[in-house]
Amino acid sequence: MLLRQGRLEHLPTAPLTARRRRGLYRWASTDPGTRDHPVQHGCKFLKDLSTKPLSATRAPPLRGRIKVPGDKSISHRALIFGALATGTTRIEGLLEAEDVINTARAVTALGAPAEKRGEVWEVKGRGPGGLRQPEGPLDFGNSGTGTRLMMGVIAGHPITVELRGDESLSRRPMRRVLAPLMQMGLEVLEPGKETLPMTLRGTSELVPITYALPVPSAQVKSAVLIAGLHAPGETTVIEREATRDHTERMLRFFGADIRTEVKDGATHITVRGDAELEGRNIRVPGDPSSAAFLAAAALIVPGSDLTIEGVLVNPTRTGLYTTFNEMGGDVAFLNLREEGGEPIADIRVRASRLKGVHVPAERAPSMIDEYPVLAAVAAYAEGPTRMDGLAELKVKESNRLEATAAGLAANGVTAHVEGDTLTVVGSGRMRGGGRVATHLDHRIAMAFLTVGLASDFPIVIDDSSMIATSFPEFCALMESLGARFEEPVA
Ligand code: S3P
Repeated sequence: MLLRQGRLEHLPTAPLTARRRRGLYRWASTDPGTRDHPVQHGCKFLKDLSTKPLSATRAPPLRGRIKVPGDKSISHRALIFGALATGTTRIEGLLEAEDVINTARAVTALGAPAEKRGEVWEVKGRGPGGLRQPEGPLDFGNSGTGTRLMMGVIAGHPITVELRGDESLSRRPMRRVLAPLMQMGLEVLEPGKETLPMTLRGTSELVPITYALPVPSAQVKSAVLIAGLHAPGETTVIEREATRDHTERMLRFFGADIRTEVKDGATHITVRGDAELEGRNIRVPGDPSSAAFLAAAALIVPGSDLTIEGVLVNPTRTGLYTTFNEMGGDVAFLNLREEGGEPIADIRVRASRLKGVHVPAERAPSMIDEYPVLAAVAAYAEGPTRMDGLAELKVKESNRLEATAAGLAANGVTAHVEGDTLTVVGSGRMRGGGRVATHLDHRIAMAFLTVGLASDFPIVIDDSSMIATSFPEFCALMESLGARFEEPVA
């Protein structure tokens, strides 16, 4: 079993999502000794079903202290930089969700074995440029981050690799990453192909570039910087809007020569190539994007008072918490500290009366994954909440702008999309009673299960199986606080 032994050799041979698509997949381990929190019986991922509808009903007050699993962005990067470093990288608190496990499998297939020993994941690095030709295709399942970051890795190696993903990932745009990487020397073997599956050929002779990001994307920024580690001289990425900066922080931590300067209102991030990275010990902090669902639930379920411990509060990730405060939410960062170059806090949330607010476009990158849950919580506020600058939501695991608006409408909430703006007209409550189409999108699934904990009638989602891509413990953690999720009656 995956979690008990925690060794990639013991993982099923077929990629995780492929197995689930074929109905073969069993997610959970029942070994309670490997996790802070035991398995996710609530979501019943143990069933051999490819889709799994679930309903959320009103919950009692959510009270106490709880921990969320490790940050997904940091987990991907720890595995990838571990593979590119010389020596061993030890990772504590790695997120053991499908997206990250697929990245662990990918680095292993490229010759840098990642495996779990006791509670710690170890990656045996090969040094930049030291990875080898994998024997078969790399399957990234549902994960845009794994795919795009690994494109930067492949670019810098003389290897030819076929990349695959599930139905959702195979619809997502890759041109944004391929364009700069092709300027550096990466080849796509199927000319003009811009979605998975595709085959890439890298080179040991990459050319460094200066690249101004046309879209605010940490994934594109990271792919170019990772490729830049393998090019001679300096590679620079220029970003006008700040996106999450874990790549910069972690590369520095691994010993890369990387600097950040602000010029004319834009941030220039420069990495020096032919880098020497050294294996490190990393502790992954709690994921603020997973904590978001618990925080949201505590805000809207009357009488709640919940503290979520050890959460990453890097300012490039905390836009949702700022917004909750502006809505009148009682949300506080307590016991602020720093670990491994990242700020961490315990987040205390108490049930609050909320009011509608305007969320400015500039804030979008710092909460890009949190709009579905914010929009759903906005139904519980008094008055309209207007969220601007949401173009990027259209190219996530689903078109989240449309999926969120449709889910709200199905549950009696007035919501409209106009261009890149979503407006939700809050009435202080949510009728519920509707069925939400999740479109293979874990965050749509969790957002609507969360707000179903306070709606007048239960909310049903058409599929909960995708939750395992980022937050397999979601149901179990919510249920440990008294929430209940059930298989809906047909
Ligand atoms: C991520 C960046 C974001 C985010 C994704 C994780 C990362 O995507 O949506 O869940 O780890 O770099 P974009 O950078 O494409 O906006």
